[in-house]
Amino acid sequence: MLVQRCNRTLLTGAFLVALGLCLNARAGDASGILPLRELAEQRGFRIGAAVAMPLLDNAEYRQTLSREFNLCVAENAFKMESFRPARDRFDFQQVDRLCAFAQTNGMKLRGHTLVWHQQMPGWLSQGHWTRDEALAIMKDHITTVMHHCQGKVYAWDVVNEAISDKGPDHPIRPDSFWTKVVGADYVEKAFEFARAADPQAILYYNDYGNESMDSKSEAVYQLVKRLKAKGLVDAVGWQCHLASGWKAGAAQARNAERLAKLGVDISITELDFRISLPVTPKKLQTQAESYRTIMRFCLSQPNIKALVMWGFTDKSSWVPYFFKGAGAALIFDEQYKPKPAYEALREELGKAK
Ligand code: XIL
Repeated sequence: MLVQRCNRTLLTGAFLVALGLCLNARAGDASGILPLRELAEQRGFRIGAAVAMPLLDNAEYRQTLSREFNLCVAENAFKMESFRPARDRFDFQQVDRLCAFAQTNGMKLRGHTLVWHQQMPGWLSQGHWTRDEALAIMKDHITTVMHHCQGKVYAWDVVNEAISDKGPDHPIRPDSFWTKVVGADYVEKAFEFARAADPQAILYYNDYGNESMDSKSEAVYQLVKRLKAKGLVDAVGWQCHLASGWKAGAAQARNAERLAKLGVDISITELDFRISLPVTPKKLQTQAESYRTIMRFCLSQPNIKALVMWGFTDKSSWVPYFFKGAGAALIFDEQYKPKPAYEALREELGKAK
């Protein structure tokens, strides 16, 4: 009898502890503050982060990711060099792992990226191919990967960074493997293959430095206009690897509006605001204002439905490797503590519509 009552008391206690943990996890922290993900969901918005697969083994990384974000993307795992070690071999282990993580945690998943001139496997980039051979490999890649992930990946960056920085005379990057072997029409071919492989998926053209109004964004606009007229593209990705202090303004609004007129959506796909080191409290405030204004901007544009950061903790970011002397570009510090930028996003997302 006594044993039974003890057991019941223990069970009730365990249940209450579990319930408490659950509520705390949903609320983000013990203070009852809602995490970004819940604030975003209340307004039908998607907030996301790129995932460094090796860190998924770390519980704090996993918990922060699933608590704060309702969208994710692989930082590297979906790139061709990561899972296609030979022409006839696909190793989907990491791809499947992220699909399962997203599904378990009720997160949407972006696929990044199907066709890019970087992070290609050596057997492809160093091989000698005719146009037809290269197109056959591209088609096989797009079809196999999209079929494998069908129903698990809601949107794909079909082509990444095809537009050159050289100005309007060279709209498609001339030095890309794909341009050299296939020709500039590789972009359209990739979208044709992707549309046929999974008609339900949302198809993106993704690039950097295309959020303002200049010759590069003009080239992206013209490309997307052509593809959209053929029903081949749905959305444009603005990577937005930016320096802290940058603010979205009238040019970005004009660009967003002209894409909206085409019926094309936009996502911010790889946001980070790098700080020139060392970090100071003042620099963190400036960074917070950049995050705040880009979020405010996104929420003010009806065709922007998602904002994805290129990571979320300063423990893991490509910035210090790529931009000399810069770092601390994300919204959590290296100990997973929210930075002022996190608070700024929370405030913007939490504002009444
Ligand atoms: C970067 C990753 O963050 C690095 O880990 C990797 O070494 C190189 O690629 N634009 C893109 C992303 O589209 O795929 C790049 O990611 C960053 C720039």
